Amino acid sequence: MLELSKNEISQLTQDHVFWTWSAQANVDPIIVKEARGVHFWDANGKKYLDLNSMTMCVNVGHGEKRITDAMVKQLNQITYAAPGMATDVRSYASKILAEISPGGELKKILFTLGGADANENAIKLARGYSGKYKILTRYRSYHGATAGAMAATGDPRRWMWEPMLMPGVVHFLDPYRYRSTFHRLNHEITEEEFSTDYLNHLEEIIQFEGPETIAAILLESVTGRNGVIIPPDGYLKGVRELCDKYNLVMIVDEVMCGFGRTGKWFAVNHWDVVPDIMTMAKGLTSGYAPLGAVAMKPYIAEAFNNRVYQSGLTYTAHPISLAAAIANIEVIKEDKVIENSAKMGLVLRKMLNDLGEKHESVGDIRSIGLFGILELVKNRETKEPLTPWNNTSPEMISFRKYCLEHGLFLYTHWHTVLILPPLIITETELKEAIDILDEALNITDQTCY
Ligand SMILES: Cc1ncc(COP(=O)(O)O)c(C=O)c1O
Repeated sequence: MLELSKNEISQLTQDHVFWTWSAQANVDPIIVKEARGVHFWDANGKKYLDLNSMTMCVNVGHGEKRITDAMVKQLNQITYAAPGMATDVRSYASKILAEISPGGELKKILFTLGGADANENAIKLARGYSGKYKILTRYRSYHGATAGAMAATGDPRRWMWEPMLMPGVVHFLDPYRYRSTFHRLNHEITEEEFSTDYLNHLEEIIQFEGPETIAAILLESVTGRNGVIIPPDGYLKGVRELCDKYNLVMIVDEVMCGFGRTGKWFAVNHWDVVPDIMTMAKGLTSGYAPLGAVAMKPYIAEAFNNRVYQSGLTYTAHPISLAAAIANIEVIKEDKVIENSAKMGLVLRKMLNDLGEKHESVGDIRSIGLFGILELVKNRETKEPLTPWNNTSPEMISFRKYCLEHGLFLYTHWHTVLILPPLIITETELKEAIDILDEALNITDQTCY
């Protein structure tokens, strides 16, 4: 095993590593050395509680031997198989994904390497199936960094690459209650009215764009990085009905919110909605190996019965990744990880509410299962965000620095703090994290007027 010193790693990194999502001059990475459960350790032996499951993916926690053992066993059997070959892991992983899919109805599975290419393939399937080309997605969304997935992404990360991205995407507004465009003056409306207003907005866009030109609506069931926006009751069902009414394919992106994150296998299950296509990655292997998947209803697959599906990847259905996925799903079932997510989700919610009561800078709290967010503001009345749009602020930087210094690894995005621990977290570990957040929020409270 390669053993480099901390200084060697720093030097080689500085000389040779090109970072994604970063201005190269500003990167100061944690040198991570070891990880177990909900914790990891850096090269100085400092321990961190991982409140972001690394990249919102280590759902079953770090260092799970049942998964690594399964991967090693697979390595010793067959390491790689051509995309056109069948393997035991490919057939079995497809079967169990079909079984756990919403309503057990998404029976055909296409494997990819991660979330972006799962969404790329979902778009291709919808276009190939329907013969139409437009894709409707929401502004507050992220669907991946490849050209098609980035075009589908609504958030500012796509701006840098426009207009070279995939054409044909039209964005619409998200049902975001805290900052609802339609309801700035009226907070008294019911969940149902709120939902109806946003469905009417979507229907108007469908009509303006022309249903005969629209292949699919693609949306995160619960929006991830763009705000943990939980759809109001009736919203996803309403999107399903609009898809049926106008003959559009409904694609849900469960890359971040799938595999127990919200306290159910998939977030759509909370509202009993069955999409036509669902994309997955992250929690599919809990990050033990790269893997994405597209689950689809049989009629989508049948559209390609006598027509070649012109797409593929050298590493599709990689046996090592599939062995990791199968073992990961077994761990989720055996250890009742989803039940823990639901149970600890309630505990987390109470702890977040307490933080909200204590700290003026907490403007809004949203959570579902172990998928939570704090939205920080300078003023609760005006809801002025703690940072400018698409930017950070000195207070937000100090907030994150305080957390890291005190051993809490977490993700902040603009004026929000994301809370996505591994789903095996205990109440004591959650409390440990919340106590650090409690102290750190004193920094952001100072900006309040
Ligand atoms: C909702 C959602 N979709 C898609 C992706 C892209 O996944 P990947 O980074 O595996 O390509 C992400 C990644 O964060 C995501 O959160």
